[in-house]
Amino acid sequence: MEIVSLETKYIFYTFALIKYINMKHIIAFAGSNSKESINKQLVTYASSLVENVKATILDLNDFELPIYGIDLEKEQGIPKNAHKFLQIIKDSDGILLSLAEHNGAYSTAFKNLFDWMTRIEGKMFFDKPMLLMATSPGGRGGASVLEIAKSRFPFHDASIIEVFSLPFFGDNFSEGKITNDDLDEQLKNAVKQFEKSL
Ligand SMILES: Cc1cc2nc3c(=O)[nH]c(=O)nc-3n(C[C@H](O)[C@H](O)[C@H](O)COP(=O)(O)O)c2cc1C
Repeated sequence: MEIVSLETKYIFYTFALIKYINMKHIIAFAGSNSKESINKQLVTYASSLVENVKATILDLNDFELPIYGIDLEKEQGIPKNAHKFLQIIKDSDGILLSLAEHNGAYSTAFKNLFDWMTRIEGKMFFDKPMLLMATSPGGRGGASVLEIAKSRFPFHDASIIEVFSLPFFGDNFSEGKITNDDLDEQLKNAVKQFEKSL
C-alpha cells in the first residue's frame, strides 16, 4: 500500500512538474512610466484573467533609457536595457500591453523604448499573440493611441489578437477590477481569444 501511494504521489508531482514546464509564459506591461499608471492597473487585472499561464508584469521604470538620438546611438551603441526588454519579448509566449495616451499618441517613455528596440533588428513583437489595450480618464479610452498602434505594430511583427479600450477609468475600475459589467465581459471575451491563440 505504502509503495502504491508513494508511486501515485510521484506521478502526481511529475505531471505537475511537466505541466509547469510546459506552461506558457506571458508578459504584461503598460506603455507608461507612471508609478500609479492606470494602464498598469488594467494590464495587471487582464493578466489575472488569463488561465494556465505564468504571467510576468513588467514596469518601464525598471528599464531606464536615455532619450533616443542617432548621435547617441553612433557614440555609445544601443543601451543594455533595450536589448534586455527585446529579449524578454522574444522569450515570451504572449503579450498583454496597455498603452497610455499622451496628446493622442504614445507616452514618451513607451515611444523611446520602442525606438531603441527597433534599432536592434527592426522587429519588436516576433509574432507573439498580443492583447492590445488602452485606458484613460476620459471617454475615448485611449482610442487615438490604439489606432496608431494597430496600424504601426504589424510592421514590427505584431500579431494583434484583440483590442480592448476602457473609457472613464475612474468610473469603471476600482480595487483592481473593472466594475462595469459590460466592459468586464468585453475584456473577458478578449482574454479568452488571446488565451486560445497561445
Ligand atoms: C502630457 C499628457 C497628455 C495627455 N493626453 C491625453 C490624450 O491625448 N488623451 C487622453 O485620453 N488622455 C490624455 N492624458 C491623460 C492620460 O490619459 C492620463 O494621465 C493617464 O493616467 C495616462 O495613463 P497612465 O496612468 O497609465 O500613465 C494626457 C496626460 C498627459 C500627462
